[in-house]
Amino acid sequence: MVKKEMIYEGKAKKVFKTDDEKVYIIQYKDDATAFNGVKKGTILGKGVINNKMSALLFKLLEEKGIPTHFIELLNDREMMVKDVKILPLEVIVRNVAAGSLAKRLGLEEGTLMKTPVLEFCYKNDDLGDPMINEYHIRAIELATDEQVEKVKEYAFKINDILVEFFKERNIKLIDFKLEFGLHDGEVILADEISPDTCRLWDADTNKKLDKDRFRRDLGDVEEAYEEVLGRLQ
Ligand code: C5P
Repeated sequence: MVKKEMIYEGKAKKVFKTDDEKVYIIQYKDDATAFNGVKKGTILGKGVINNKMSALLFKLLEEKGIPTHFIELLNDREMMVKDVKILPLEVIVRNVAAGSLAKRLGLEEGTLMKTPVLEFCYKNDDLGDPMINEYHIRAIELATDEQVEKVKEYAFKINDILVEFFKERNIKLIDFKLEFGLHDGEVILADEISPDTCRLWDADTNKKLDKDRFRRDLGDVEEAYEEVLGRLQ
């Protein structure tokens, strides 16, 4: 496999072509942004942790029947993935109120949801990823009804698998964001699953072990990321 030119650079990742047109390489960076790029910084070693953690969780999900873009881990910061056409949707699943949901509904952070909540946002940096519902998705043709049904089915199944997996490691999965793409016309899980995209609280102390430490200047950011990966391995 020969790594070729970079075709995309995002806030936390770079994507490279390879000599196989169906295979890409994702490289995870230490750069951190929050509030749609307004807050910028570096979390040393984050790229390595997010790469390893995503690989570990993608493997777990594949074993449990969720198709993902993951092929194999290449080195500390890079993984090989399948080509996907990303659906312009951010899919958020919430088990406990935190972040924007707590604010929007006037709930105290930590309030348990009676059932998991699924939200869609339109993946569009210029608009600040506004929240949308299935009617918007249909009306502006962001995805077909069939694709949306698949996304919802996978998202809830992923939630069940991950809640259990983190619980065994004394971590509460508060909420997380997923992105899906189309590979050979089929919906598969793409992007990453890491402390950048999940809220993870220690089950005993509720200590935040995720990007909220960076967003809210809570300190011990690197340590929290390392703590999570350490518990998963
Ligand atoms: O900010 P909010 O409470 O809506 O975030 C919900 C979840 O989605 C959090 O786990 C957050 O890390 C994740 N998220 C993300 N990327 C975004 C927005 C939210 O990973 N652009």
